[in-house]
Amino acid sequence: MDIVNKIKELKKKHNAIILAHTYQRAEVQDIADFVGDSLELSLRARDNSADLIVFCGVRFMAETAKIISPNKKVLLTEVAAGCPMAEMISADELRELKAKYPTYKVVTYVNSTAEVKALSDICCTSSNAVRVVSSIPQEQGVIFVPDTNLGSYVQRTLKRDNMVVWQGHCYVHSQIMEEDVLALKKLHPNAIVLAHPECSEHVLKHANHVLSTSGMIKKVEEIKAEEFIVITEQGILHPLNKKYPNKKFYSIDRALCLNMKKTTVESVLNSLELMRYSIEVPRDVMESAKRAVFNMLELK
Ligand code: 13P
Ligand code: SF4
Repeated sequence: MDIVNKIKELKKKHNAIILAHTYQRAEVQDIADFVGDSLELSLRARDNSADLIVFCGVRFMAETAKIISPNKKVLLTEVAAGCPMAEMISADELRELKAKYPTYKVVTYVNSTAEVKALSDICCTSSNAVRVVSSIPQEQGVIFVPDTNLGSYVQRTLKRDNMVVWQGHCYVHSQIMEEDVLALKKLHPNAIVLAHPECSEHVLKHANHVLSTSGMIKKVEEIKAEEFIVITEQGILHPLNKKYPNKKFYSIDRALCLNMKKTTVESVLNSLELMRYSIEVPRDVMESAKRAVFNMLELK
């Protein structure tokens, strides 16, 4: 039996669902039951009747799925697939920040550990960060962790000066320079520029639209243009080319998330055969982290 059929059989046996992020390898996306951005994957983890979730992504995403669905078994396909940004603020550092600004609300990007989420008032993803922060009264101070680029983008968009933004970053997006975008624009002057909010302000100022990964996929459908410059991780090209074979997408070759690329089709099979790598969240952390994640999911 070939590997894809073995995966299908094991999925049936364990009543499992495979969730994959848009930055996963093309062949991994193709065997998934659902491919999406961080917010969509969280919603899918909440709204499904499977007993087992096999997560093809990075640790914080699988951890968020476990927080949302504590009664389900959640497997992360590769144990070392972490997100460096999530490690850029520790629970102790956030405790210190909260002690310094005791009246401020804490908004935490889902690219964070469960311990940090547990100390937060509400989580956000790249697709709803502006909406989450604007749900907090304008006069209320906000601590935003850990992504400095996303936090600053929200701050600029909402013109909020009472925001303390932590200095974490994504190495994939923050290495993209203004010159990279200008060079692509010169080569493709008619292309619409779509950029992820984890990019720096110098990059975002050249974007026609600042969007999460799934937001980009939807935006292409709405716009009549034939050419797009896509400023985010390379994995996004697979769903874009699949969905819009007649449109042209240009991107930055070196924008690769090595942790996202750790998962292969073999990892998915090993995960299902060996029931590895099971995600566990300590009980005391779970309850508080769940409140912060659900505060986000329930936001209308
Ligand atoms: P999305 O919210 O678009 O899924 O982005 C998550 C992420 O990790 C980007 O680097
Ligand atoms: Fe983390 Fe950046 Fe990779 Fe997203 S692309 S998982 S933020 S390192």
